[in-house]
Amino acid sequence: MPLSLTEQAKELFLQTLAGKPDVAVIAPGRVNLIGEHTDYNEGYVLPMAVDRGIAIAGRKRDDLKITLYSADYREQEEFNLNAIRHDISRPWANYFKGVALLLKQNGIPLGGCEAVIRGDLPQGGGLSSSAALEVASAVFLKKLFGVDLDDLDLVRLAQQAENKFVGVQCGIMDPFASHMGGKDHALFIDCRTLEHDWIPLDSGHKVVVFNTGVKRELASSDYNERRRQCEEGVRQFAKFLPGLRSLRDLSLCDFEKYQGQVEPLVMKRCRHVVSENQRVLDTVEALKAKNLEKVKALFQESHESLRDDYEVSCHELDTLVELAQEHPLQKGSRMTGAGFGGCTVHLVPGEEQVLENFITYVSEGYQRRIGRKPDYYVFNASPGAKFLNG
Ligand code: GLA
Repeated sequence: MPLSLTEQAKELFLQTLAGKPDVAVIAPGRVNLIGEHTDYNEGYVLPMAVDRGIAIAGRKRDDLKITLYSADYREQEEFNLNAIRHDISRPWANYFKGVALLLKQNGIPLGGCEAVIRGDLPQGGGLSSSAALEVASAVFLKKLFGVDLDDLDLVRLAQQAENKFVGVQCGIMDPFASHMGGKDHALFIDCRTLEHDWIPLDSGHKVVVFNTGVKRELASSDYNERRRQCEEGVRQFAKFLPGLRSLRDLSLCDFEKYQGQVEPLVMKRCRHVVSENQRVLDTVEALKAKNLEKVKALFQESHESLRDDYEVSCHELDTLVELAQEHPLQKGSRMTGAGFGGCTVHLVPGEEQVLENFITYVSEGYQRRIGRKPDYYVFNASPGAKFLNG
């Protein structure tokens, strides 16, 4: 994580508000390695925090006013702590507002403050800039006002801010990874119990992310439709398996036994979730055993399942994954995040020449087939906000 981002936020605070900030914090974005569309089904995920994020620097005020300046949008927003309202004309401020409102609703006393926000994550690009901003806001307010809030409550609060205030029905994975990620580790999360574990990543490999450049709207009806189809799947399978609460409880064996009795489209959605959960568990084992050929096969199956059963891929994502899979040295390629655009993720040997060769191969192929070069990022797994803000 480039600490310079926090330094930049501090510096900007000095320039715009003529004074020193009391507190400066940073929260990273995330990329999901495997476990897609499983978090809201109480399943397993394996994301990692990345070395890009969002920093906030600020200080207390004596009144109840909150003044936020976004260095990236070059916009300022002011509101009173007793009159927090969603405002579509300044979407970036809603993440901070949502967190502040939820803290208040939880009986946590806050005061006014002024702060500068600075990020280096592409927005709406599938790297969870929104979760990073929510986690950064929560950590900032926690530190500034000495709030007593444990890690998992902070993660839940960030998710609720997105669900209830911003209005996007995302799962818990993104704020969890942003807050709890570990340096050089992926984060295994059981999204039902919130038990988690840090899984060492192979030090010889880097995580490459390509951005299709296709903007996806998370609030879009497609994401919510998939969630509804999963709920419908639970209802239909529960006819044969009383007590089934979520797709997490549906074993592969029971799925196979009853799949013929379930509506075909719903059956496909469920097949993705049930098989993807197993792939997350298998990937964790394969990473521990340093079996990257196995990881590669699991990433490929995950992509195919998202493309064919869950139907959340698109031509640009498929093109990037196909091109990457043609490269002999890559050790895993798939779409990542919600889909319908956004990014792909790849495990690639860390030697400079191999990385360069892989990136050039995929970029040029994309240029030929799609007509433009994709943006790309080479990431190391970063510590989450919990570890970065001491
Ligand atoms: C988005 C959501 C996550 C998760 C993924 C799909 O990133 O924010 O909660 O559901 O999509 O795995």
